[in-house]
Amino acid sequence: MDNKTQDNTPQSNAVVSARDFCVYYGTHKAVKNINVDFARGKVTAIIGPSGCGKSTFLRCINRMNDLVDGCTTSGKLMLNGVDIYHKRLDVTELRRRVGMVFQRPNPFPKSIYDNVAFGVRLKGRIARSDLDEIVEKSLRGAALWEEVKDRLSSSALGLSGGQQQRLCIARALAIRPEVLLMDEPCSALDPKSTARIEDLIAELSGKYTIAIVTHNMQQASRVSDNTAFFYEGNLIEFGETAKIFTNPKKQETNDYITGRFG
Ligand SMILES: Nc1ncnc2c1ncn2[C@@H]1O[C@H](COP(=O)(O)OP(=O)(O)OP(=O)(O)O)[C@@H](O)[C@H]1O
Ligand SMILES: [Mg+2]
Repeated sequence: MDNKTQDNTPQSNAVVSARDFCVYYGTHKAVKNINVDFARGKVTAIIGPSGCGKSTFLRCINRMNDLVDGCTTSGKLMLNGVDIYHKRLDVTELRRRVGMVFQRPNPFPKSIYDNVAFGVRLKGRIARSDLDEIVEKSLRGAALWEEVKDRLSSSALGLSGGQQQRLCIARALAIRPEVLLMDEPCSALDPKSTARIEDLIAELSGKYTIAIVTHNMQQASRVSDNTAFFYEGNLIEFGETAKIFTNPKKQETNDYITGRFG
């Protein structure tokens, strides 16, 4: 772990900060004493073998694990220095600020337009022209506009898998999150759709703070600025992606990225 994160104060450019953060399913400690900062506008890849706690950690950042019975946490997880697990924190507001894209595209059985507008409408009444603008901007942001602009009222379920995943990204962008969490967003996609999503991540970086879980080492090295390597619930190594992939400090990291296990 690098020295800067030993301190309890988040780094000044940190959007997400964990300090001695642990997650338990019942008595099973799935995520162990994590100390890490995800920097503003950067893409952080989370890598590690199956079951090492990547999704568990990611899902804590917008408190999706609240939905899992028996899941508890200790230590601190912060968004812009504010404790995500504070008992008076507004979880709906948190999830507005921290959007999520899942492994399998999960559009609602509604029109393309209504999918993107969904979260915006939840916030309250909005003029149709303003909503149209947000929908177009979000679809453009997700590199999908040109493909769907003439069929906005068609069902989202008629889109290809790759298009559905970009629609889910557009839906997340529509509510203007600060952070975008992506849990293996390309694992159900073909290489061409995967390349489009990777290009999209590159375009979104800078504007959003992105954390992406991936099993694809090439993908992690292509899309991320920083990489966090998890193993058996521990954060083994965190640092600049280029360094992690060319000159890791820890033997376990080296073994993993060279395909010796996992
Ligand atoms: N809902 C749950 N209830 C109980 N245990 C769980 C639950 N979800 C995950 N776990 C356990 O927590 C540990 C970490 O799981 P997690 O899903 O975070 O791993 P992961 O790194 O995302 O793995 P994968 O790469 O296979 O997606 C595993 O031991 C898993 O069995
Ligand atoms: Mg997972």
